[in-house]
Amino acid sequence: MNLHAAFPNYRPRRLRASPVLRKLVCETRLSVEQLVLPLFVRAGKKLRKEIGAMPGVFQLSPDEIVREATAAHKLGVPAILLFGIPDKKDAKASGAMAKNGIVQQTVRLLKKELPSLLVVTDVCLCEYMEHGHCGIVSGGKILNDPTLKLLAQTALSHAEAGADIVAPSDMMDGRVRAIRELLDENNFSDTPIISYAAKYASAFYGPFREAAESAPQFGDRRSYQMDAANGNEALREVALDIAEGADMVMVKPALAYLDIIHRVKKEFGLPTAAYAVSGEHAMIKAAAKNGWIDERAAMMESLLAMRRAGADILITYAAMDVAKWLKS
Ligand code: PBG
Repeated sequence: MNLHAAFPNYRPRRLRASPVLRKLVCETRLSVEQLVLPLFVRAGKKLRKEIGAMPGVFQLSPDEIVREATAAHKLGVPAILLFGIPDKKDAKASGAMAKNGIVQQTVRLLKKELPSLLVVTDVCLCEYMEHGHCGIVSGGKILNDPTLKLLAQTALSHAEAGADIVAPSDMMDGRVRAIRELLDENNFSDTPIISYAAKYASAFYGPFREAAESAPQFGDRRSYQMDAANGNEALREVALDIAEGADMVMVKPALAYLDIIHRVKKEFGLPTAAYAVSGEHAMIKAAAKNGWIDERAAMMESLLAMRRAGADILITYAAMDVAKWLKS
C-alpha cells in the first residue's frame, strides 16, 4: 500500500468529516437485491407459529408462506429459501422427495402466485428422517453413498415443482455431482445449484432445529459437517463442489467464519453466499430485547461485515427488516 505521506499530510479523519463524505468513500454497500429470506413451511391453513428462540420467525402454512413471501417481495427481497416440516418422518425421508410433499406443493403455489420471486429450496433429509440425521443411518452410522440418490431425487422433485435454484445442505460427499447428473438427465440443466459447500458443525444452529424440528435424535453431525477448527479444508470442500457442478457456494454460519468467506471468494471468485444462521440471529434479537444492543445497528453491521469479507449473497432471517431499514 502506498500511503502518499504520513501525518500530517495524510489525515484519515478528513474523509470522515460528514455523512455525505463518508457515504462517498464507503467501500462496501448493502442492498436489498442481495438478500435471501429463509422460510419454514408446514401443512395447514392460516398457521403462524412463532419459534421460541427466533422472535419474528414462524412456521407457516402454505397460504401464509405466500403472504410472507409477497410482503418480502414487495419490499424488494428477490429470493426466499424454503425449508419444509413434514407431517410424518421415516427412515427413508420419503417426505423429502414426494411429488406432493410440503415443499413441492408450496413451490408450485409460490411460482403460480409470485412468478418473479426466486424460490430456492433447501435440499436435505434431516427434517424428513425419524432420527433427524441428514443421511441414511445404519448401525449408528450415517451412510454417504446410498444417501446421494435420495438427495438427487429430492432436488429433482423440487425442480419439477418449479424451484429456481436448489441448495443442498446435507454435507454428504459427492452430492453436488449426483444432483447435477439427475437434473441434467431430466432436462433441468438450467437449474442452478447453490451448495452449502463449507458448512460447519455449529452450535449456532440450535434455534433452527426447533424451527425445522430436525434435531438429531442420537449423536451429532460432526461426521459430516465440518470442524470449526479447519479453514484449508473449507477450500477443498468448495473446490470439490465446484468441480461437481456448483454454480454458487455458501459459507455457513457467517459471522464466526468471515475468514472462510474471504478465502473462498478470493480463491474461487464464484458467487458466494453467507448464511447468517439462526443462532446469530437469536443472539442479536435477545441482546436487543434486553436493551443491551441496538438491533438495527448490530444487524446492519454484521451483514456489512459479511459483504466486506466477500459475500455477494446474504441469507438472513432479518431480510424484511433490513429491506425496510435500507429504504428509510
Ligand atoms: C439442514 C439445515 C440446517 C440449517 C440449514 N439447513 C441445520 C443443521 O444442519 O442442523 C441451519 C440454519 C440455521 O441455523 O439457521 N441440514
